[in-house]
Amino acid sequence: MTNIKKVAVCGAGGTMGAGIAIVAARGGFETICFDMSAEGLARSRKNAEKFFGKSVAKGRMSQEDADAALGRMSDSTDLNDLADCDLIIEAIFESLEVKKDLFGKLNGICKAETIFASNTSTLSITEIAGGSGRDDRVVGMHFCLPAEVMKLIEMSRGINTSAETFDTAWAWTEACKQIPVETQDKPGFILNALLVPFNNDVIRAIEAGLCSAEDIDLAIKSGLGYKMGPCTLLDLIGLDTQVRLGEAFYPITLDTRASVPPLCRRMVAAGRLGNKSGSGLLTAPAAEKATEAPAYSIASAGESRSFAEGDAFLGGASDGAPVTIHLGGGFAPDDSKTAVLVELDTECLGVHTGEDMGREGSNAVGFARYRNGNDAPSNLIELVKQPNTDAAALAAARAVFEVAGFDVVVCADQPGRIVDRLVRPKYNDALRFLDEGLASAADMDKTCCMGLGYPDGPIERVVRGGLARHFDVTTAIADMTGQKGYAPARAAVVAKAREAAE
Ligand SMILES: NC(=O)c1ccc[n+]([C@@H]2O[C@H](COP(=O)([O-])OP(=O)(O)OC[C@H]3O[C@@H](n4cnc5c(N)ncnc54)[C@H](O)[C@@H]3O)[C@@H](O)[C@H]2O)c1
Repeated sequence: MTNIKKVAVCGAGGTMGAGIAIVAARGGFETICFDMSAEGLARSRKNAEKFFGKSVAKGRMSQEDADAALGRMSDSTDLNDLADCDLIIEAIFESLEVKKDLFGKLNGICKAETIFASNTSTLSITEIAGGSGRDDRVVGMHFCLPAEVMKLIEMSRGINTSAETFDTAWAWTEACKQIPVETQDKPGFILNALLVPFNNDVIRAIEAGLCSAEDIDLAIKSGLGYKMGPCTLLDLIGLDTQVRLGEAFYPITLDTRASVPPLCRRMVAAGRLGNKSGSGLLTAPAAEKATEAPAYSIASAGESRSFAEGDAFLGGASDGAPVTIHLGGGFAPDDSKTAVLVELDTECLGVHTGEDMGREGSNAVGFARYRNGNDAPSNLIELVKQPNTDAAALAAARAVFEVAGFDVVVCADQPGRIVDRLVRPKYNDALRFLDEGLASAADMDKTCCMGLGYPDGPIERVVRGGLARHFDVTTAIADMTGQKGYAPARAAVVAKAREAAE
């Protein structure tokens, strides 16, 4: 139940405001769409008509309900029209001065009970509320893009937000059949606080020569089941926007992972902003999978994390083949073979081959089938090469796994390979956020699933995969980067558990 009846959306002529206005009207509320730009409002009106038309065509709502929702929406470029609104949601330019100015003006126009909500992504709700004359009635209400489709809303309180304001705003989001989660008034709330450093890590990994942007997307989609690869997302968001996000986050969080990666700035300087400029991180079309492969034999030194006993892949092996696959930690160089494959756990290939094997033309190739702790192995094989690995050995390794039906990516010999290198620091963030009380574990996982389309959340993955393994992988990554932002979370918990097990 909500006692809110009339809503206004400021910035309704823009991307987010247009979607938020649809949510409000669809939820049954009289909705004023306010913007400085009449053209923007006209554009949004057309989009709303198209959206409701499609909803009817797809059987999601009746024609009658769609007409009623559109009938509840009216346009205005005069702030005075907002005087008797119960709730005003602002989605205007991301500028503290501009937002404060709007709320200050509205304070003089609106009735005393009107609640002001801000859709800001990076600014502080407390700072926006400061000087509004009603900082107890200002709340954070962060929708996801596209707002009319995505259900998640991150709700936050400023320091002076009253419980009544927060509860009323929360109830309103539920009345609109949205899914609210509670978070604190901190930069990026949950979603962007996890996403911005993660996306920066993706750009840094490319810059560090780990692998191609195309292989990052394939690895993340195949290994983790994300609907969209991070490079596709970055090209969609725009690298210029990613620069702005980093510039907004880093001075507040002082997390070096949030700072803008130099490659991101160079891409922007080169005019490669992503989809909006026609080119971005992704440049190559998806490569064709191999259709023929050399025969392989298996040499087993112990239990394999990639292939359990009885796995169909093991059944395809034959003795004396040109490719040898070492499982369970073994390795023996053999120059007479096309390729010698070494199964890796958390260690690097160099641990097995030594420095010498980085020489021109080595036929040793590392590999691991990605799995989260003891979850069932995924369909992803990460191949590991050294700077001068023989191209024919790498091609043979790729063909062996692709013909067997796996997705194959190639990366440099760096800790964490692709998937762990990119997602483990994000899991560390989630664990730290949990300890700091940013949000509950359930809300953090829900945010990632509902807001980003992940099949499962970071906390549930660490719990399932095991904190000790998470610690080992992140320790290796932190050692390589030497930066505090990569340090494993909850190190003391793991140390204590290991001590008890000894
Ligand atoms: N785009 C996203 O993915 C996204 C997601 C979540 C939150 N946000 C946040 O939503 C807000 C809007 O972002 P956007 O991408 O929709 O921007 P946008 O540029 O598409 O739209 C902004 C709109 O606000 C209007 N406007 C600017 N100043 C105004 C004022 N003083 N009074 C009335 N209208 C004014 C502009 O005319 C424009 O129509 C920002 O705070 C942003 O951080 C954006």
